[in-house]
Amino acid sequence: MFYKKTVNRVHLANKKVLLRADFNVPISKNGDILDDYRIRKTLPTIEHIIGSGASLSIIAHLGRPKNGYDKKLSLEPVAKKLQDLLHKPVIFVPDCIGTQAKEALANKPDDAIILFENVRFYNQELLNDDDFATQLADGFDIFVQDAFGVVHKKHASVEAITHHLPSYAGILVENEVTTITKAIEHPKLPLAVIVGGAKISDKIDLLHTFIDKADYVAVVGAMANTFLLALGYEVGDSLVDPRAVKNAKEILRRANTKSKEQNFTFYLPHDVVVTTAIDVAKPTRVVDIAQHTWADITAYPARPKKHSFTVGKQEIIADIGPMSASAIAGAIALSKTVIWNGTAGITETPGLNGATAPYAHGTKIIAEALCGEHAGHKNKPFSIVGGGDTVAYVESVDGLREQLGHVSTGGGASLDVLAGKKLPGVEALLSA
Ligand code: 3PG
Repeated sequence: MFYKKTVNRVHLANKKVLLRADFNVPISKNGDILDDYRIRKTLPTIEHIIGSGASLSIIAHLGRPKNGYDKKLSLEPVAKKLQDLLHKPVIFVPDCIGTQAKEALANKPDDAIILFENVRFYNQELLNDDDFATQLADGFDIFVQDAFGVVHKKHASVEAITHHLPSYAGILVENEVTTITKAIEHPKLPLAVIVGGAKISDKIDLLHTFIDKADYVAVVGAMANTFLLALGYEVGDSLVDPRAVKNAKEILRRANTKSKEQNFTFYLPHDVVVTTAIDVAKPTRVVDIAQHTWADITAYPARPKKHSFTVGKQEIIADIGPMSASAIAGAIALSKTVIWNGTAGITETPGLNGATAPYAHGTKIIAEALCGEHAGHKNKPFSIVGGGDTVAYVESVDGLREQLGHVSTGGGASLDVLAGKKLPGVEALLSA
């Protein structure tokens, strides 16, 4: 049960409600919203508030402005999008505090919604400044937090503001927290976890939690490189986190202990795709780092050359190999719940992203297995997908997101929920 009071359990009629949303969406140079997922995920909360007879105004952020106002990071295009989605007038107000904001609020027609300009145009936002929060809250009766993507941060429109208004959770925040918590605390077993990303240090707590709770943990992407290095494999010029080698050894020790005690697998890639530069024009080859089976087959009848199972000094690991992808897909096919955070290869480089990219094969096989398409298996586990590059990959493949269980709107926030950390923006809300 969600331990905070959600907006659908609050009397809202005739109240002036201020909603914090995460409208941090990709926008083209012409002002077109390239992906409206986050906006659409906030609609249930918005519709509930207006349907309850309350007056609604919204604050949000876009990007990370450096020095105040930046036209490229204006929320004006979002106001237009919101108006199209809601079929209701949305008034864009070019400031979130001050005279202009307060006049707009005083003159707002009952059936219109206000969207204020990007709160991050004020650096007080990131400083959790109480005076700025007071100005944001001025004129409102109730605050609703639905910006799941930022609830792990102590920002003025996330934390400080809750000291000035009775504050409740939005429907999206409740859904994200309960779904992700359930997947890690009370999943349908077996639970498999596929974790990637560049830095082990960012995900140490998470790796420990995963070893404690899951039946199968596969480490992929650049994070796997650091584990391979810790095991003494040559990783050439690949991206590694050298300061994390000690931690990687500790995690391997812990995983090893668990697998001796119970039915548990900690999986590192057996084969990897390497290249000499991250460039579509450069050839790739598969290196059979651990098992030698692939190397034996490709070299048959001769003995494989060392080159077949060793990453060269100048080579970069860019993806997991086909044997590893297939092994992970097999584990997915046998699981009831899968948590996926981190792509298997480099998918984020501009021009190289998406399912057709040369280093996206491992990621594609994982995604297909999550959709129940692996070696004729009928099993489709409930999947929880999060993390910036992973969600960006999912979005780049037509129709993929709709086939997955829960695609989180939050990157860091979803990781913190998985690691069992408290979220300041949720903690600050009134309890149920
Ligand atoms: C996100 O995109 O993950 C959220 O909107 C948070 O944005 P931030 O990482 O700039 O705080």
